[in-house]
Amino acid sequence: MKYLIAMLFFGLAFASNAFAESQAKTIHDTYCIMCHGTELYTRESRIARDYETLRAQVDRWQANVALNWSNTEIDMMTNWLAERYYGLSCPADC
Ligand code: HEC
Repeated sequence: MKYLIAMLFFGLAFASNAFAESQAKTIHDTYCIMCHGTELYTRESRIARDYETLRAQVDRWQANVALNWSNTEIDMMTNWLAERYYGLSCPADC
């Protein structure tokens, strides 16, 4: 399963934005929707208010679910959530 995720993310690096978005969504729907829906990301009391905090949350949850994501994989999911739900832009170095 880890191999599959690595392949999905590897594919993302070379894919168009539309494709990357659908892959991130698929991964998110598979591993991240078990406990909460996306309403958590837009609630008034949300934890993540900036990109770094959001990335730390993504890292925290992928580790909790034992997905063992690489930095690249964490960045990709963070970018997707940041753009789609948080309205945060990626800092210059990502
Ligand atoms: C085992 C249950 C569970 C799974 C699986 C899970 N989460 Fe969560 N997640 C939570 C809970 C509970 C919170 C709220 C924590 C809080 O309010 O302190 C949360 C909060 C978050 C937040 C912060 C939301 C905010 O307030 O800004 C993010 C981002 C997040 N999760 C991303 C993910 C991602 C990405 C995955 C998939 C890799 C994932 N979660 C999988 C339970 C889970």
